[in-house]
Amino acid sequence: MISDLDKYRTEVSSFKETSSDKIESFRIKYLGKKGILNDLFTKFKSVPDKEKREFGRSLNVLKDMVLKKVELLKSQNFQVEKIKISEDLSRTAYPIHSGSRHPISIVTAKIIDIFSQIGFNISEGPEIEDDWHNFTALNLEENHPARDMQDTFFIQSSPDILLRTHTSSVQVRYMEKNIPPIRTISPGRVYRNEAISSRSHCIFHQVEGLYIDDQVSFSSLKQIILYFTKALFGKSKIRFRPSYFPFTEPSAEVDIFWGLESETDYRITKGTGWLEIMGCGMVDPNVLSNCNIDPEKFSGYAFGIGIERIAMLKYGITDIRSFYESDFRWIQHYGFNPLDLNSTSGL
Ligand code: DAH
Repeated sequence: MISDLDKYRTEVSSFKETSSDKIESFRIKYLGKKGILNDLFTKFKSVPDKEKREFGRSLNVLKDMVLKKVELLKSQNFQVEKIKISEDLSRTAYPIHSGSRHPISIVTAKIIDIFSQIGFNISEGPEIEDDWHNFTALNLEENHPARDMQDTFFIQSSPDILLRTHTSSVQVRYMEKNIPPIRTISPGRVYRNEAISSRSHCIFHQVEGLYIDDQVSFSSLKQIILYFTKALFGKSKIRFRPSYFPFTEPSAEVDIFWGLESETDYRITKGTGWLEIMGCGMVDPNVLSNCNIDPEKFSGYAFGIGIERIAMLKYGITDIRSFYESDFRWIQHYGFNPLDLNSTSGL
């Protein structure tokens, strides 16, 4: 019987298989219910007393050897499998959940791109603004009725501190610090104390444009707007409607001919085919003087574009509130995945 144990010990120590199947059969062969060790433990009972001690010890040694061997081979097998997996280049990649850019960011970037190509730089200003930059310098004196056009969130009174109601405040700041020629666009967030509906929201985004030089005329303005609508929408039928803004004289609103090809076109253009896309005009001489620019020497134009409006047109989005709901599925649908280089949805 002792010689049987010797035979098993040699077998165990020379066992070297690393495949999980073979390790498992080896384990069952020795440690299973009907395995060698159980059989030997049963036989132990019939071993003569004087041999019991030595036999028992050898049996325990064998059991220990088997347990250690199985453990060792299993861990070796785990390493081998791991290497195999990492070397398998045909394995499908784990899905990468990347974020998407928001349509507002996409449209803003596109507008910046269009104007940078013709020499406009980008300027920014604070969202918490004082009365001077948001209103007074822009020809909106205290009690000016046009202040009511933009219901305001006030943060503090005397002096008045407020959330800017438009990005026109940035043109004031820019003119105060720079001398003509000035060619700048200012994208940013603006705030108005208005009832939220499918077409208006308290927070939205604008891009302000400003060009000041010694010979800027209304025809330069028309040309630049035409360039912009062609570049952004691929449409060049536009019209200028006389309008009023305190900071420009003359002032106009620009409509783009969107067409009446579908039912949606009818709905969004209220059956006219035309859509308003921005306000603009020649900078009022009072505004220039307020910003230390001599209106006798310089003239300029300004324009203000609502980014949500443009994005709604570009993507056919009907409810402005959906921009701010942070619905991941919505952003995935309209947004542009920055990792997807073939995507065309990024405009
Ligand atoms: N600030 C105007 C608004 O928020 C938009 C605007 C109109 C800006 C005409 C301009 C402009 O610079 O010339 O409604």
